[in-house]
Amino acid sequence: MPMRTVSFRTFGCKQNRYDTDFLRESFEKKGFKVVQGDADVVVINTCAVTSRSAQKCRQAIRAAARRGAKVVVTGCYPQIAAGEVSRIPGVMVVSGVRERSRLPDLVLEALERGEPIVDVKPHVQDEEFEDTPVERPDLTRAFLKIQEGCGDFCTYCIVPYARGPSRSKSPESVVEEAERLVRSGYKEIVLTGTHIGLYGGGGALPKLIERVSRIDGLIRIRVSSLEPHDVTPELIDCLRLPNVCQHLHLPLQSGSDRILRMMGRRYDVALFMDIVRKARKVAPDLGLTTDIIAGFPGETEADFQETLSVMKEAAFSRVHAFKYSDRPGTRASGFRDKVPERVKEERVSQVIALGRELSEDFHRRLVGRDFEVLVEDDREKDGLLAGFTRNYVRCRFPGDDDLKGKVIGVTVQEAGPTDVTGIPRR
Ligand code: 5AD
Ligand code: SF4
Repeated sequence: MPMRTVSFRTFGCKQNRYDTDFLRESFEKKGFKVVQGDADVVVINTCAVTSRSAQKCRQAIRAAARRGAKVVVTGCYPQIAAGEVSRIPGVMVVSGVRERSRLPDLVLEALERGEPIVDVKPHVQDEEFEDTPVERPDLTRAFLKIQEGCGDFCTYCIVPYARGPSRSKSPESVVEEAERLVRSGYKEIVLTGTHIGLYGGGGALPKLIERVSRIDGLIRIRVSSLEPHDVTPELIDCLRLPNVCQHLHLPLQSGSDRILRMMGRRYDVALFMDIVRKARKVAPDLGLTTDIIAGFPGETEADFQETLSVMKEAAFSRVHAFKYSDRPGTRASGFRDKVPERVKEERVSQVIALGRELSEDFHRRLVGRDFEVLVEDDREKDGLLAGFTRNYVRCRFPGDDDLKGKVIGVTVQEAGPTDVTGIPRR
């Protein structure tokens, strides 16, 4: 029998990219041939954070089925809506976020039996971390999942239902995986998770960062999204370590204390700004990125103006804007004073526009200076090479293929709203 082919599509966050990396390697080990695009089996690793993310996944599932693939749906979306997913025609296997290591076997079983399998395990209270080490991540930057799940239940958020309670990878396993990645030539490791401030039960993240930073040959460590209230002085101190990137992603969500309270967030604007000031003191070039939700139930024009003004005050280097999305089962879904669609759209477009302005302001301050860039493998459409600086600015520049995968110096010459361009330093 010819080898079965499998391809992967990933939606959502960095954790999902890590999970797909793991799945790719496990399918390979079971004898599948991994290809791009059309394949016998298409695995779709889904996201359900907003209704639009779920809708995009549904479209991808239908498109793959139409092209004749056997479709495997996994990740957050089936975890919260297994029935809905299994009713989409052409779906062969439905699994959630648990027991990822079993997925290739489930697929082989479904192929053999010629009938669909739905196997979504509900979360349990003392769920253990499923250690799913990855050897050859897909990107120049290697994502490493150190934690999964969240018990905070912000009122708008479906993620705790999808990812389950917080659980952590052991420090030994994190270090072992990181060491292996460094030996394989990866220069940057991104520590990811659903809510990594909860690592080791909470408070254990700075120690872990410090341990990973001591690995010989590791040039960069980046820390992905952190809840503002988890940013302790010890964590800010980590920004002093020579290989820790001067970049924090702190989701602000709203600039109105009243809305933050209704969202169930555990910080107010004053605390947020205090953290920002302290971090900038330690890391003056800090890249500060954030998420904003526009149009949360009850958000008035005055609340929204506060969000815009805090965005300016914090001088974010990049903003991810979300339109509030009603997720059935969350507390906010039952709140009164829903903001009309039209108003949400108007507000989110203002957040996007201001975000771009702030990015451009941040980028302009880099012009004329030298930055270190980790060069990615893929060229841009216009033929330029590209990569990220330590402070998470996308930098594009001309250069030869032999620069790919290396960390090089680039002099920034021009600033735009999404990236900067420059020339490699000789
Ligand atoms: N509606 C809109 N945005 C949301 N996010 C999470 N839940 C929702 C929702 N119901 C956004 C938050 C979070 C990011 C990952 O997704 O900004 O930080
Ligand atoms: Fe999407 Fe959140 Fe799940 Fe990531 S954890 S895939 S962002 S729903």
